Amino acid sequence: MNTEEGSVFALLLLFLLQGSIGLDILSQNNTIQDGNLLVSSGKKFALGFFSPISSSHRYVGIWYYQVSEQTVVWVANRERPINGTSGALSIDSDGNLVLHETNGSFLVWSTNVAYALSNYSTTAQLMDSGNLVLVQDFSERVIWQSFDYPTDTMLPFMKLGLNRKTGLNRFLTSWKSPEDPTPGNISYRIDPTGYPQLLLYKDGDPYWRAGSWTGDRWSGIPEMTRAYIFNLSFVNDPDEVSIMYRVIDASIITRMIVNESGSLRRSTWHDRDRRWIEFWFDPKDQCDYYGKCGPNSNCNPYNTGQFECTCLPGLEPKSPGDWYLKDGSAGCVRRGRVSVCRSGEGFVRVARAKVPDTSKARANMSLNLKECEEECLRDCSCTAYASASESLGGSGCLIWHGDLVDTKTFADSGQDLYVWVDAIELARHRKTRSLSQKAMVAIILVSILTALLLAGFFLYGLAIKKRKDRRSHNPQVSDMTNSTYFNEPQSVEDRSDEPRGNRDVPLFDLSTVASATNNFSVLNKLGRGGFGSVYKGVMDNGMEIAVKKLSKHSGQGVKEFKNEVRLIAKLQHWNLVRILGCCVEEDEKMLIYEYLPNKSLDTFLFDKTKRLLPDWRKRFEIASGVARGLLYLHQDSRLRIIHRDLKASNILLDTAMNPKISDFGMARVCGGDQIRGNTNRVVGTYGYMSPKYAMEGIFSIKSDIYSFGVLLLEVISGKRNGAYYHESPSSLVGHAWELWKEGNCEDVIDESMGDSCTKEEAFVGEIFLKCIQIGLLCVQEFADDRPDMSTVVFMLANKDVVLASPKRPAYVFKSKHHGANLSANDKPASGNDVTISMLEGR
Ligand SMILES: *[C@@H]1O[C@H](CO)[C@@H](O)[C@H](O)[C@H]1NC(C)=O
Ligand SMILES: *[C@@H]1O[C@H](CO)[C@@H](O)[C@H](O)[C@H]1NC(C)=O
Ligand SMILES: *[C@@H]1O[C@H](CO)[C@@H](O)[C@H](O)[C@H]1NC(C)=O
Ligand SMILES: *[C@@H]1O[C@H](CO)[C@@H](O)[C@H](O)[C@H]1NC(C)=O
Ligand SMILES: *[C@@H]1O[C@H](CO)[C@@H](O)[C@H](O)[C@H]1NC(C)=O
Ligand SMILES: *[C@@H]1O[C@H](CO)[C@@H](O)[C@H](O)[C@H]1NC(C)=O
Ligand SMILES: *[C@@H]1O[C@H](CO)[C@@H](O)[C@H](O)[C@H]1NC(C)=O
Ligand SMILES: *[C@@H]1O[C@H](CO)[C@@H](O)[C@H](O)[C@H]1NC(C)=O
Repeated sequence: MNTEEGSVFALLLLFLLQGSIGLDILSQNNTIQDGNLLVSSGKKFALGFFSPISSSHRYVGIWYYQVSEQTVVWVANRERPINGTSGALSIDSDGNLVLHETNGSFLVWSTNVAYALSNYSTTAQLMDSGNLVLVQDFSERVIWQSFDYPTDTMLPFMKLGLNRKTGLNRFLTSWKSPEDPTPGNISYRIDPTGYPQLLLYKDGDPYWRAGSWTGDRWSGIPEMTRAYIFNLSFVNDPDEVSIMYRVIDASIITRMIVNESGSLRRSTWHDRDRRWIEFWFDPKDQCDYYGKCGPNSNCNPYNTGQFECTCLPGLEPKSPGDWYLKDGSAGCVRRGRVSVCRSGEGFVRVARAKVPDTSKARANMSLNLKECEEECLRDCSCTAYASASESLGGSGCLIWHGDLVDTKTFADSGQDLYVWVDAIELARHRKTRSLSQKAMVAIILVSILTALLLAGFFLYGLAIKKRKDRRSHNPQVSDMTNSTYFNEPQSVEDRSDEPRGNRDVPLFDLSTVASATNNFSVLNKLGRGGFGSVYKGVMDNGMEIAVKKLSKHSGQGVKEFKNEVRLIAKLQHWNLVRILGCCVEEDEKMLIYEYLPNKSLDTFLFDKTKRLLPDWRKRFEIASGVARGLLYLHQDSRLRIIHRDLKASNILLDTAMNPKISDFGMARVCGGDQIRGNTNRVVGTYGYMSPKYAMEGIFSIKSDIYSFGVLLLEVISGKRNGAYYHESPSSLVGHAWELWKEGNCEDVIDESMGDSCTKEEAFVGEIFLKCIQIGLLCVQEFADDRPDMSTVVFMLANKDVVLASPKRPAYVFKSKHHGANLSANDKPASGNDVTISMLEGR
């Protein structure tokens, strides 16, 4: 740099430092022309003119400065586009921010703040939060800010809701289309009537209800309790009712948008992949749509194969004909005549509920649940009650009168709703409850007998089959000992001539699979996940199979698919679910697995009625079995498979309760890169995912180790990592860590195991403390600190090994106001067998 240039540069610098123009500031007498930018001081956001994709119109907007894909978060002139590049943004003489077209001759948009008039001079500044603020120079008061007029994007630190004093109501409205930022039909706002709720509206009608605030989350978004990324806060006082979220790690770029088709979506920017990765959206299932089942009924999306609507206790379908035809929109009404008040009536509990619409509910925060019940009983028109701040330990009281609208059942969260019933109905419910306990015993006996019978039939069938095969060369394709193979898919008839060495994975034909599963009947459906649905099937010889029908659009070519299945099928281990074969025909791709009659581990572990089933010894064996299976996947097999979605519902149990890992290698079978490449979603289940993977989509062997650690803690504690429980607001991982630090980690151990181990108590206690320590070692914050699977197996197997002291795990936030909004399309274990809980591919 020569001296002349140097002095010019210095002058320029001086000018920038002293003059009124900062990069992030627009002051009076300056304008931003089309082509100029205002950039926030930390270079996070930029303001300027832009055109949406496939549109020539110009708009003034704010977008991320460092995100390579232009992502607009706010638009000034949503409804008045500018035709050419003649627009100019400035501050006019009365202090308002104005947008003119054609050399200042035509006013397009203005902040229109009346009191800006009183003292002229104002300055606009673009903040690093993405907020554009207009400040009165004299008083330094913010007289206008873009955060008060959001468009379709909610950013961290932005408030949504109503200022009761000024009447300002901040809410999101979708664009009309990706080309047109004009306000569309969808909005997302707080309804302050009754007990405030957050709702998504379509054409002005409720469309999906995030529900009411329960202390640390919304009643309709139970996933939020997990403390990951966000710190959510809700204010409801005489001044305002509003929500806001903060990001705990400021380097995370995240946003929430309402999409023009009525979907609320949350995503984070993954710089490494240069794309937005969606990690949460709502509405998800049919029960999310407002009032799907009409008034006074409950919608349960996990009623696999059945009608999702059921009447709330004591009520019956208003229109039984429609109900029969699976149209629940008419809802339910009270049976018979309304019975008299104060004559032995009571309440029936509906568990895991999303409480009904609270716009007509009454709240009294000073009552506890017991007083709430009394209040409801006293009031003869009360139809239901529930705790108002359930997630903070159940204080507060919500009381409903009249219809109960939009109730839903969650898989493993939600709260208790107490529905008013008359004396007769109450007696009926008490009776069925005690009956059902007796029935449980009977059911267990019957199922054991059935299992024995089935096993007998199966063996018999196999024997017959073997005999037949010796005689005939042309049987139906059925199991892996004799069928067609990939190498010669055409030669179904003469496969017996093939050399033995080529026979690796059997190819089933579509007609066989279809007839085994009753043509993929809903009655045979075991569950559904991101890669497709799973069906139970019975082959002609009586053998039971599980068929995973992959979604048509997910995945790759037939040849690659077969290659991958062939590789995956070679993974054979006692603790892996066995692949029997596959079926590729008429653009259908299916995987055939052995069928395991017991459900997945989560149903035993988390279901209160069955919790006693695995005793401590079994639990330890299950944990060790899973560890060995995972070790095989990671190290001992030739392929080195990262599971990516290890969790209790992916561990199936055979009749002897041996654990078998399912769903391994799905990323390969469905085209590993395509999962991330085409769908913009992370595969896996929040709660089990390591933060690195959740946030950045970077997976490694150590991400699986993290999931294993979570699973181990769940097995020991009998509690779900994600589920909320009252003793502590943090997740199971956080809870275990806190107890560990205090030296009280016996408290993690499932209390239901108390009596199963009286004699060997000391010994068992020791084993479990060791398991907790190993679990905590696996969930440590830094992947490098986590042990690998061979070390885990070694530690589990050797009594005397000295363990390291775990460091702080990921995801521990001590605040009471934590709350996160992470959820995958986390389908519950609804079926008997292979449950897939991965994110939907598109
Ligand atoms: C803006 O320009 C007007 C006249 O054009 C002048 O009177 C005023 O002082 C200027 N304001 C600033 C802040 O420079
Ligand atoms: C842009 O052009 C259209 C016609 O092409 C016209 O109707 C509209 O008024 C123009 N917009 C503005 C802001 O001048
Ligand atoms: C706008 O101003 C430019 C120069 O500043 C001039 O060339 C152009 O003709 C003007 N356009 C109109 C419509 O006045
Ligand atoms: C406007 O600002 C001046 C100082 O610049 C102050 O003396 C005056 O009181 C202010 N007027 C109002 C209405 O705020
Ligand atoms: C918005 O509503 C109007 C009228 O109700 C309808 O014609 C239009 O298709 C809707 N637009 C979208 C994007 O749903
Ligand atoms: C969450 O927000 C509250 C204020 O609402 C704050 O006191 C707390 O420190 C925050 N927690 C974290 C982990 O940032
Ligand atoms: C809006 O959400 C739906 C899913 O609900 C999705 O299919 C669609 O692609 C989304 N549209 C945009 C523009 O993101
Ligand atoms: C709440 O309940 C208490 C005790 O019954 C009562 O004194 C109070 O008035 C109630 N508050 C409201 C707002 O109804």
